[in-house]
Amino acid sequence: MGKNRELWLAFFAILFITGVYALVLLQTRQVPAASGLFGHSIGILGFVLMLMTETLYSLRKRSRLARWGRMADWLRFHIFTGIVGPYMVLLHTSWKFNGLAGATTVLTVIIVFSGFIGRYIYTRIPRTLDGVEMAGPSGQLQAAALASARRALAIWHAIHIPLGMALFTAAFIHIGAALYYATLLR
Ligand code: HEM
Ligand code: HEM
Repeated sequence: MGKNRELWLAFFAILFITGVYALVLLQTRQVPAASGLFGHSIGILGFVLMLMTETLYSLRKRSRLARWGRMADWLRFHIFTGIVGPYMVLLHTSWKFNGLAGATTVLTVIIVFSGFIGRYIYTRIPRTLDGVEMAGPSGQLQAAALASARRALAIWHAIHIPLGMALFTAAFIHIGAALYYATLLR
C-alpha cells in the first residue's frame, strides 16, 4: 500500500459500503429513500465524516493546544474521511438531485475533485512528516519549480477553503429544511 495507503483504505471502505447498499437494495427491491432508515443513517454518518474532514486537520494544523499526532497522518485521515464521507452522502441522495440538496451534492463532488488536485500539488513540495516544508533541492531551475508549486498551492487554498464553507452552509440549510419538512411534519 505504501505511499497511497489512505486511497487504498478509502477504496476498500467504499467496496464494503457498496456491498451493504447492494444487500439493502436486494432485500427491499427498491432504491433506499433519503428519508428511510438506511438512507437517513448513511446520510448522517457520511455528513459526520465530512464535518470531521472540514475541521480536524485544520484544528491540528493551526491550534497551539492540539499538538498530538503527525501532520502527515492527519492529512491521510483527512483524505480518507474526505472520500468515504461524500460517498456515503451520495448513496443517501437516492439518486435525486433536486433543489438545494442537489446543489449541495454538486458542491460535494467539486470539493472532492478539488481535493485530489490539491493532493497532487501538495506532494510536489518536499516536507518532513510533520508537514513542515523542507529546503528544496538546490539549483536555479528546481528552485523555480518549487516556487511555482508553492504559488499553485496558495491559489488552490484560496479556492478550496471558500468552497468548503459554501458546501457546509448549503448542507446545514438542507439538513434543517429536510428535518423540518420530511421528518417533523410527517
Ligand atoms: C452534505 C451532506 C448532504 C447532502 C449532499 C444531501 C443531499 C440530499 C439529496 C440530493 C437529497 C434528495 C433530494 C431530492 O429528493 O431531490 C436528500 C434528501 C434528504 N436528506 Fe440529505 N444530504 C446531506 C445530508 C443530510 C443529513 C445529515 C440529513 C439528516 C440529518 C439529511 C436528510 C435528508 C432527508 C430527510 C431527505 C429526504 C427529503 C424528502 O424526502 O423530501 N441529509 N439529501
Ligand atoms: C468533504 C470533502 C473535503 C472537505 C470538506 C475538505 C476541506 C478541506 C479544508 C477546509 C482544507 C484546508 C485545511 C487548512 O489549511 O486549514 C483542506 C486542505 C486539504 N485537503 Fe481537503 N477537503 C475534502 C476532501 C479532500 C480530499 C478527497 C482530498 C484528497 C484526495 C483532500 C486533500 C487536501 C489537501 C492536500 C489539503 C492541503 C493541506 C495543506 O495545505 O496543509 N481533501 N481540505
